[in-house]
Amino acid sequence: MGGLVYFSSASGNTARFMTRLGLPAARIPIAPADEMPAPDRPYVLICPTFADGEGRGAVPKQVIRFLNDPDRRALLRGVIATGNRNFGATFALSGKVISDKCNVPVLYRFELSGTDLDIARVQAGLEKFWGTECLTMA
Ligand SMILES: Cc1cc2nc3c(=O)[nH]c(=O)nc-3n(C[C@H](O)[C@H](O)[C@H](O)COP(=O)(O)O)c2cc1C
Repeated sequence: MGGLVYFSSASGNTARFMTRLGLPAARIPIAPADEMPAPDRPYVLICPTFADGEGRGAVPKQVIRFLNDPDRRALLRGVIATGNRNFGATFALSGKVISDKCNVPVLYRFELSGTDLDIARVQAGLEKFWGTECLTMA
């Protein structure tokens, strides 16, 4: 099984989702002065969206900083994007931006802190995803 890395701002929706998911995960800190996680194995990134009206700024600055490091970026295998459907066309846009830039798939999208169904789908999806990754690496 690979790892999980996530970002969650002060509103804490993604953090609440991660607690309910119940899998070990490293948090990208909100404060730039705090230490970044240093993944040592492939991981999936869970990332909220903070776009302006034109879709700019979708990926949180701390996530951009995290991914700007080539060693950390090299281990990224997929992204799960979150947001709020009230934002319409920019719903969960951070996932598409990261997918395009880093050439990894968007594995799932959910709203706010997710529903019980989202939790079950992500648990099952990750298990399946890491299963195929092991096969392709064998
Ligand atoms: C300033 C601001 C801009 C946002 N822009 C978007 C957006 O463009 N698309 C979207 O899907 N959600 C958007 N959201 C909603 C957040 O992605 C959503 O609340 C998310 O759950 C925040 O996660 P967090 O509480 O873990 O930081 C925005 C929220 C804020 C506060």
